Amino acid sequence: MGTFERTLVTSALPYANGRIHVGHLAGAYLPPDIYVRYLRMKGEEVVFICGSDEHGVPITLRAMEEGVGPQEIIDRFHTANEAAFAAAEIDFDIYGRTSWPEHHELTQAFFLKLLDGGYIEKQRIQQYYSEKVGMFLPDRYVEGVCPKCGGDARGDQCDHCGTTYEVTELREPRSAVPGDGTTPVLKDTLHWFLRLDRFQETLGDWLEGKTDWRPNTRGGAMSWLREGLRSRCVTRDTEWGVRIPLDDPDAEGKRIYVWFDAPIGYVTNTKVWAERSGRPEYWSTLWQDAGTRLIHFIGKDNIPFHAIIFPAMLLGQETYIRPDVVVANEYLNFMRAGRAAAEKFSKSRGAVIEVRELVETFGPDRLRYYLTAIAPETADSEFSWLDFFHRTNGELADVLGNFIHRTLSFGAKNLAGEVPPAGTLGEADRATLAAIAETREKVGGLLDRFQFRHAQAAMIDLARVGNRYFDDRKPWVTRKQDPAQCATTIHVCLQLAAGLARLMAPFLPGGAGRLAAMLGIEGPQSPGSWARIGEEGLPAGRRFEKPKILFPKLEPGDVPEASTD
Ligand code: MF3
Ligand code: ZN
Repeated sequence: MGTFERTLVTSALPYANGRIHVGHLAGAYLPPDIYVRYLRMKGEEVVFICGSDEHGVPITLRAMEEGVGPQEIIDRFHTANEAAFAAAEIDFDIYGRTSWPEHHELTQAFFLKLLDGGYIEKQRIQQYYSEKVGMFLPDRYVEGVCPKCGGDARGDQCDHCGTTYEVTELREPRSAVPGDGTTPVLKDTLHWFLRLDRFQETLGDWLEGKTDWRPNTRGGAMSWLREGLRSRCVTRDTEWGVRIPLDDPDAEGKRIYVWFDAPIGYVTNTKVWAERSGRPEYWSTLWQDAGTRLIHFIGKDNIPFHAIIFPAMLLGQETYIRPDVVVANEYLNFMRAGRAAAEKFSKSRGAVIEVRELVETFGPDRLRYYLTAIAPETADSEFSWLDFFHRTNGELADVLGNFIHRTLSFGAKNLAGEVPPAGTLGEADRATLAAIAETREKVGGLLDRFQFRHAQAAMIDLARVGNRYFDDRKPWVTRKQDPAQCATTIHVCLQLAAGLARLMAPFLPGGAGRLAAMLGIEGPQSPGSWARIGEEGLPAGRRFEKPKILFPKLEPGDVPEASTD
């Protein structure tokens, strides 16, 4: 790791066909935001890229359902999702769009370069065609039975067992075009294919060395490699997408496949960001200099695209780097009160919690805290309202908020709102102070390994240490019997509070900012502040405010489904 000079972090580009929900946020957006904030506090150079994925069948399907054009759909959801991320304090450097002309140009350049290298070639294939509606059916417009598990499946991918396959392998195919439903027939057509087979060896050697990746991510990529990489079709029969940059009658009625153009969106958005920042050349440093550490955060269904296909596309460009790490998350499901099992978040079944809605009611801190506490890092996990209620009250408010509050209110009331001198430190005082730097090391080490859940828990543990120390030292007793010791106790607690303001910042930037303001410390998120945790505290004599409650508790009636239990 030591050889990298800068980090480029990407979050999977959400389709602009609906509003993002908490399941999305917990996987590919909140963890990288925490990570980027942490790197910035360490003073590292880092750029954080996201944006809307505005092509593909999900967009056109939605447009057809509503009877509007795709442009209207993408404009609406691009704006809504950008605002939702901002409300959740997900701090991308840019939230770009794959409908930008810059993106269409860059995608075409990628395509042509691969064509030039012989990595893309035209092939005659058989494809499903609906005689009823008179069109070739892209994979997503075909539904049927999964060839592997026998469940209901979409054209080229089964949501039950996660398998991907060729659409022709799907059993009992039927057209999913609204109002169609007929059995499609196979017909000859010409399409462009990416020769993934030519990257088999290079990608194999590369992934061999990625032993530090999460097992789900490396395992997913390895299973593709073991099956042998095959050519993948990178064009589709649709009018919505990037034009095939060829003067060829066979290209008529076809566009570049959304999964070819979408990851290039990371590059486009970096380019646009660099231009807007007045450093137009810097994008190529980020994407083409070996000193960049590229990290993709994604959901598990995106693994092959980020660990195999996009790396192959980058290899074919010859000048680009490949990701150092792909961090894939499992799914967050929804456990509704009274149900036997968790289910997928789904708008149509009324099982959805939109990010915007949740932030508006409960604020970004509670949302971020809870979603990190249950992050689906190594297995699927479950969101439940009752658990949301208990964990935000029991940990965020009762452990972290309470420690801060009792420290500051005791100090404001009994010590004139001034940091008392350290006095003579006993063993317990010293051990408690030492816990601050120890926690910094622990949290940092966990974040370095993308273990966000444990990292946040380790941060909360420092507040637990503080509460235990406060209880043991009984400043409300020593205040009269031994004022010097009382002063020492509060001095130590205030140092913990200052440490917590900074340790909290990647996870709970809002709460960290409010706490820092109460303590009179400058920007807990400023570059270099990570190293100051446990090293540079609050000097004696520093004034602090009478505290406002950092994380107010919720009443059962505030939370849907929490009062029914
Ligand atoms: N829109 C895709 C999804 O939601 C993710 C695209 S990620 C990118 O599954 F790499 F293609 F950008
Ligand atoms: Zn299946």
